[in-house]
Amino acid sequence: MPHEYDDPHDRTPPPPEANSRRSFIRAGSLGVTSVALTAAGMTAVTPSAAADRSPASARAPLAVTPACSGHETPAATEGPLFKPRSPERTNLVTPAIRGVRLHLRGTVHDPDCKPLAGCLIEFWQCDQNGDYDTTGFSLRGHQHTTSRGAYELETIIPRDYWGRWGQRAPHIHTQVQAPGGPVLVTQLYFPDDTEAYGRDFAALNARDGLLNRACTITLNSSGGGAYSGTFDFVVKTTA
Ligand SMILES: [Fe+2]
Repeated sequence: MPHEYDDPHDRTPPPPEANSRRSFIRAGSLGVTSVALTAAGMTAVTPSAAADRSPASARAPLAVTPACSGHETPAATEGPLFKPRSPERTNLVTPAIRGVRLHLRGTVHDPDCKPLAGCLIEFWQCDQNGDYDTTGFSLRGHQHTTSRGAYELETIIPRDYWGRWGQRAPHIHTQVQAPGGPVLVTQLYFPDDTEAYGRDFAALNARDGLLNRACTITLNSSGGGAYSGTFDFVVKTTA
């Protein structure tokens, strides 16, 4: 199975065929969003127990998007293994996939923290062995955010692998594009205390020169060796 180090000296762009999907996703845009200084907001805020005991009339109204920072999600390299024309689906777990399950969800906002409906989100990642599927579309898919700007993804935690940039910490490749906006290309990472495949995520994260802690998924164990996680994006809506 291919890794990103199939040709470690290859620095050439992907062939035109590989760019066609990107051309589609980038229609009407001028390119990738610039790298922001800080991360997107993470999880939704759960009202405290004290607030729950307060009379309804005394409760402060909840913010519409309390976790949104307004800072654009930092960009990252796309890598060589993006494939155009992935299936539209929210569940990437097929019978051959036996990794640690992950239910990922979140919201896409604009820099004013307004949830963005109809955003195109593309996900691709390696499997439990650190392999990418380059002949088919295993662990690849795209979807659109709901009217509330939300997305959900059933997948697995990917494994680390050796690539053209050295040993890569587990990560999920992502493209996000608001209607008419530029494409954000980035990668999502996992917390140091993640438990999967007997790997030391803290050491892997520390060694990965591409890793951006601002793009770390907020992870919660959901029991049975599975995880749920959240990551909210902030993207531009105009070039
Ligand atoms: Fe990768």
